[in-house]
Amino acid sequence: MSNTIFSLEGKKIAFSGATGVLGTSMSKYLAEQGAEVIILGRTSAKVETLVAEITQNQGKAFGYICDVTDEQSVVNAAKEIEKEHGYLDILINAAGGNMPGAVIRPDQELSDLDLDSLRKVIDLNYLGTAIPSKILFPLMLKKGKGNILNISSMAASRPMTRVLGYASAKAAIDNFTKFLSVELCTKHGPEFRVNAIAPGFFLTEQNRALLTEEDGSLTGRGNQIITHTPMNRFGKPEDLLGALHWLCADASAFVTGTIVPVDGGFSAYSGV
Ligand SMILES: NC(=O)c1ccc[n+]([C@@H]2O[C@H](COP(=O)([O-])OP(=O)(O)OC[C@H]3O[C@@H](n4cnc5c(N)ncnc54)[C@H](OP(=O)(O)O)[C@@H]3O)[C@@H](O)[C@H]2O)c1
Repeated sequence: MSNTIFSLEGKKIAFSGATGVLGTSMSKYLAEQGAEVIILGRTSAKVETLVAEITQNQGKAFGYICDVTDEQSVVNAAKEIEKEHGYLDILINAAGGNMPGAVIRPDQELSDLDLDSLRKVIDLNYLGTAIPSKILFPLMLKKGKGNILNISSMAASRPMTRVLGYASAKAAIDNFTKFLSVELCTKHGPEFRVNAIAPGFFLTEQNRALLTEEDGSLTGRGNQIITHTPMNRFGKPEDLLGALHWLCADASAFVTGTIVPVDGGFSAYSGV
């Protein structure tokens, strides 16, 4: 597909959270499409393993260690990236996740909310998206064209019980996505785009215990989710690849400021 609007050949893609469950599937796919994947990870061993796996598969991957919540650490990685790659085509902000302390469990009250955990989950998801966007955008300006893809969640548009901090932080990412799409386009031109993918419920190690019992059957919460998902199943990491490809490629050149649900119909279903 090297000459089509769907070509990702040679695109330089910086990718935070690439070593996670969804990130690994997405980064390997992008490398298979000919993109150069510039992994921003905080755990060297995981970054090295992913770079080795992509390279063994004839893909191009490069690892940089940084903590997306720490501006100086991202600045240091950006300097290395600029030295070694010159510019960036795309930034994918996928580092994120829920934190156990930033929830209000059924047996708790608002007064039990742990504000320190709330700050941490907002730092990771929101600032962990805003900081790399701020620091790495100049590498897209060098190219005169750029594309930022954020990873939101179904918890953003309609908050879910329990996950207060995560839902608020992802809602902030949705707003940031729309804000930044307008900001970059009006100040730097239509070649600069910002979108987000909002994954529905994917069964990963992070939420397995919340959604399934040890014997694999659904918990009460898992069952509530499935009965509100018209496709009647959880997502698989590969379900994200089509939307990922489209939003990274020139095929979506006139698309900016959107949040694309990949959720088996969850967000469309009223429950009736
Ligand atoms: N799984 C789902 O069902 C689901 C649904 C909707 C949205 N999402 C979103 O999709 C994204 C990926 O989810 P996932 O399930 O793949 O999560 P995951 O497996 O927990 O991976 C999270 C990734 O973020 C990285 N990370 C965490 N804190 C970081 C920091 N301070 N600096 C740099 N990197 C950091 C992790 O690196 P280390 O491993 O080194 O800590 C890991 O690569 C997240 O934004 C998540 O909120 C997931």
